[in-house]
Amino acid sequence: MCGIIGFTGKRDVKEILLHALETLEYRGYDSAGIAVKQQKSGKTEIFKCAGRVRELRALCDRSEISSECGIGHTRWATHGGVVNRNAHPHQVGKVTVVHNGIIENYKELIAYYKLESGLDSETDSEVAAALLNHFYEGDPVAAIRKAVTTLRGTFALVILFDDQPDTIYSVRNVSPIVATISEEGAILASDVTALCQFTNRYFVVPEYHILTMKPDSIRLENLKGECVEPEYLTVDWELNSSEKNGYPFYMEKEIMEQPDAILKTIDKRIVDGMPDFASDGVPDDLFTGCERICIVACGTAMHAGLILQSLVKRVLNMHIDVELASEFMYSDPVIDEKTLVIAVSQSGETIDTLEALKYARRHGAKGLAIINVKGSSIARESDYVLYTEAGPEIAVASTKAYTTQLAVMYLIVARMAYLKGIYSREQTGAFIAELRRVPEAMREVLAKRDEIHRIAGRVIEAKDLFMIGRGLDYSILMEGSLKLKEVSYIHSEAYASGELKHGPIALITQDTPVVAVVTQKKIRQKEISNIREVRSRGASVILFEKAELADEVSAEFAPCMLPDMQDEFMVMPASVALQLLAYYVSCDKGFDVDKPRNLAKVVTVE
Ligand code: AGP
Repeated sequence: MCGIIGFTGKRDVKEILLHALETLEYRGYDSAGIAVKQQKSGKTEIFKCAGRVRELRALCDRSEISSECGIGHTRWATHGGVVNRNAHPHQVGKVTVVHNGIIENYKELIAYYKLESGLDSETDSEVAAALLNHFYEGDPVAAIRKAVTTLRGTFALVILFDDQPDTIYSVRNVSPIVATISEEGAILASDVTALCQFTNRYFVVPEYHILTMKPDSIRLENLKGECVEPEYLTVDWELNSSEKNGYPFYMEKEIMEQPDAILKTIDKRIVDGMPDFASDGVPDDLFTGCERICIVACGTAMHAGLILQSLVKRVLNMHIDVELASEFMYSDPVIDEKTLVIAVSQSGETIDTLEALKYARRHGAKGLAIINVKGSSIARESDYVLYTEAGPEIAVASTKAYTTQLAVMYLIVARMAYLKGIYSREQTGAFIAELRRVPEAMREVLAKRDEIHRIAGRVIEAKDLFMIGRGLDYSILMEGSLKLKEVSYIHSEAYASGELKHGPIALITQDTPVVAVVTQKKIRQKEISNIREVRSRGASVILFEKAELADEVSAEFAPCMLPDMQDEFMVMPASVALQLLAYYVSCDKGFDVDKPRNLAKVVTVE
């Protein structure tokens, strides 16, 4: 999704904007541009192009730029092709704009306000610039106020007015904008990753509030013109934690960081060996007062929800649904005040998940969010939040966010089991003690990276690939399959292995790669039978198996051994193995692992 940066202060703005756009590349984009207020002429000049930030940098290096105030944008196309004129910033008359979101009524606005003549691009964003220019009579805030009450849709707008030197304005609805002020100047961005180079204190621009940024001041006001104090948050990420720190790709760094991220996520929530959410302000009656749980999430976060679903059914014997957030509102969900809805999201900005959460709360549900980015939209929309402590996750393919989401979920299950009297104190303590072993088990898998890299060599040429398992193993493989798909572009499909013989086994031919995961003792025999079925039809089987389950039967498949944990805890070490598999396949295919084609890290369009 689009990345936005804006700075006004006492430093050369060109490098600040370009470096920030490089930091925001992970959000996914196809074009980039900046607009700067030239110090000599006072003019607002735009430099933009379809392509990568490095091409924008080259364009800027060929130009004379001397400025301390500017805005920048990386565009993930929604309206109009990937061509220079559709890149942001857009300038109409005295107004220059960058935009993240979708203006739903842009065609009506063009017709009603006769904006056509001023337009050059195919984008809805340029219409926002034209509308602001139409309303502008010398008072930027007044023009913005009129525009935002006219626009329909989602928007994060960052605006320059020709005759307002060194001043940047911003207003948003749904699409995120965070901001801060430091000794060097005032800065805003689509997400906190771009602010880390300056400070770890920031605030979220509230929806429909107008931010005015000058080099040494910021003003936040509501649409009535009343001044509002920013609510500052602190991100406890080391200022350089969003760098690669010597790894070739962020994905590898983030896979390797998982043991520490898990520890950081669970440590403060285990008191005297027991799960404890007091420091998060999450009350016990949130869990004891609900009769149903409904998880809403997308992609990897939804896969984490599948694991929570298995645990809640297995340990709590409780009804729980996992809903694709993008389907949720259209599936006539049964929601009432006895429903606990759990929104899972790394970014906290996925609009499908945000809208599903809003829908559920409108229908009486209490909302608990499991989020990685503090102060994000979903966090602010929830009644309670449990933050994962994964640190910034830059690679599009989610890894440490996923396993830290799982860690929070295991704590929730343990807390609920204890509160409901299903687990005694001793049993709860034993469950938590096993959770504490996860980082070490993950390290054992990470120590097998060379073996897993060799296994990757067996699938690198595959066009199609199956991943088969039952129960919890199937849920593990749903996520493992997505990882492989999104970074290697191999068509991988996770299948409940017992279901194969009802059709899909027709697709198994000689040397079809089939990845199997076997970690659950009670279903192992059936899984082995299913593996033999595909093997007898020519499949090339790659088996990841919990070491203590392995025997002479599985030995014929030369399994990659996974460290021994209690069955329901095998999810996290097994997931690390599948993350590494996907990572090495992508690396060996020569792809840009961190920025897979077509994908964005934060999906802020429905
Ligand atoms: C996972 O590797 C993908 N990047 C994607 O499926 C992601 O999990 C999904 O878009 C949800 O993002 P969120 O966790 O930020 O809401």
